[in-house]
Amino acid sequence: MPEKFYNRLIQEIRRFHENPPALVSAYERALQTDDVEILKGFSRCILLNFRPWVVSFPRWLGHIYGNCPDPEVRRLILEDMEDEDKKDPHPLARDGHVGLHRRLLHALGVSDEEMEDWDSYPPEILSVVHSFYEFARTYPWQEGVAAIMSSELTNVRDLPKIYPDQLELGETRSAGAALMWMILKKLILAGALRKEDVAFLFAHDWTLLDELEGKPVDRTRGTEVKHAVYVLRALVEHTPPGREESVVRAFRLGLRMFWSYFNTMGREGHAFLDRALGTA
Ligand SMILES: [Fe+2]
Ligand SMILES: [Fe+2]
Repeated sequence: MPEKFYNRLIQEIRRFHENPPALVSAYERALQTDDVEILKGFSRCILLNFRPWVVSFPRWLGHIYGNCPDPEVRRLILEDMEDEDKKDPHPLARDGHVGLHRRLLHALGVSDEEMEDWDSYPPEILSVVHSFYEFARTYPWQEGVAAIMSSELTNVRDLPKIYPDQLELGETRSAGAALMWMILKKLILAGALRKEDVAFLFAHDWTLLDELEGKPVDRTRGTEVKHAVYVLRALVEHTPPGREESVVRAFRLGLRMFWSYFNTMGREGHAFLDRALGTA
């Protein structure tokens, strides 16, 4: 029997984790040190390179939104755009993800000029970002969601079972958020960052804050889990059978490009560590 459509998508996510981008090994290397200045510089390097993705993501969604005739799906996309660009009511956040990311970069010593200077980013990163604008504008909405929002499924620690025979995500180390969190947690505990500086991470998964504060943790509650579930659902419920192949292809392409983005961030992170640890 051919593999169910949702399981084909989950298998692509598993494949992504089987060969993690260099970002994961860079995080693991950074986690070996307790030197606050090195951890800060490393976080600055990684999070700054993530800036083009963060500011572009809701804009990509806006293009997909414009191509989507289904009001139910449009509402979901709108909700995701709101999480990114509108204010999260949590007292530690009070901003969308884009603004919270800027707040974190400021806390790490990055200026607005530096983060908005797109000429300074590696071309591999800019290539992914500009390709995604093209996909978002020109692909039919299902292929657009598949290519651009497949990344939403790479950062969840647990994916709830929506379909009875749905494959497990398996041993995922996540594309990086969990490891970035371990580094930022060290900086919070060392007094180098305040909790509110790190609300960018919490807003994606408030259970991280519960964990930090020793409160009970419900892992199915994070924003990222909500996004991951609706991306999978929207694709499964709205892809006509004749288009499954093309949607899987777009999903795979998006993941490969996301991988190359994170691989470039990892390369930059390793280069920073080479310099900082004097091993270059
Ligand atoms: Fe976000
Ligand atoms: Fe998301």
